[in-house]
Amino acid sequence: MEIKTDILLGDCKKVLKTLPDESVDLVFTSPPYADQRKKTYGGIHPDQYVEWFLPIAAELKRVLKPSGTFVLNIKEKVVNGERSTYVMELILEMRRQQGWLWTEEFIWHKKNCYPGKWPNRFRDSWERLIQFNKERHFSMYQEAVMVPMGDWSKTRLKNLSETDKTRDESKVGSGFGKNISNWLRRDMAYPANVLHLATECNNKNHSAAFPEGLPEWFIKLFTKEGDTVLDPFMGSGTTNAVAQRMKRHSIGIEIMPEYCEMVEQELRPVELYLLEKKDSYAPTEPQRRIDLR
Ligand SMILES: C[S@@+](CC[C@H](N)C(=O)[O-])C[C@H]1O[C@@H](n2cnc3c(N)ncnc32)[C@H](O)[C@@H]1O
Repeated sequence: MEIKTDILLGDCKKVLKTLPDESVDLVFTSPPYADQRKKTYGGIHPDQYVEWFLPIAAELKRVLKPSGTFVLNIKEKVVNGERSTYVMELILEMRRQQGWLWTEEFIWHKKNCYPGKWPNRFRDSWERLIQFNKERHFSMYQEAVMVPMGDWSKTRLKNLSETDKTRDESKVGSGFGKNISNWLRRDMAYPANVLHLATECNNKNHSAAFPEGLPEWFIKLFTKEGDTVLDPFMGSGTTNAVAQRMKRHSIGIEIMPEYCEMVEQELRPVELYLLEKKDSYAPTEPQRRIDLR
């Protein structure tokens, strides 16, 4: 199988226009946060963030297949002792103006968050991964991310109530229900929407670009081999490196030439893979040690 990795230099707002309609299966990205790293690649003021991002979101919607998914890794900052609201405003405007469906929100729990003391809050150890879709039915390979049942079989599942043993219909009439006893003799379960992953640290112990395990989990969940993954804010190319290793085509867009050159040197534009069937991918081996945020 031939796997292509395209690295494109420029402002994604413009470069995205060169990509064909409905050609991408998964957009997975972490854009610059409001007012972060002003000197490095230009911060966007929190008040202008929505206005700046919406035209990019419109292009992402155009290039995404109807069966595709957009996962946005973002977290609002604290300004003047208060959380900014631009992420919430962005979700609302993407729904209202562009018709995106806000399907789900995942939490990335950063397991190795540094201790600290703040007068009015505790240390921030999580980020959002907001899932948007174009359609209510989209490609999702839930079996690919199943997890061992673990201690549940010995604790909660051991003492089932009468309700647990029958199908417990949704109280809000959604048509969804649960029968917990169905899971009694199973080894594997579907995961929750909280991902526990450590940030990757360089040898100076700084927090780094997102860990490879993060795109890996979403690429497994929303794509199959031969599909196409796009990261419009590529940075050090974590999404593309993982996509290539998992035999997905990928496109990375980056405004800083030095990051583009670095990723081009690291990743081959075309990689040939044997078509042999493998049950799992090679374990994640973090190599990217660049602090971009
Ligand atoms: C938070 S970093 C992404 C880090 C990446 N996930 C990684 O693991 O290395 C955001 C990246 O977006 C790039 N960027 C900022 N504005 C951009 C734009 N308009 N178009 C393309 N890239 C942009 C920055 O140079 C930076 O490398």
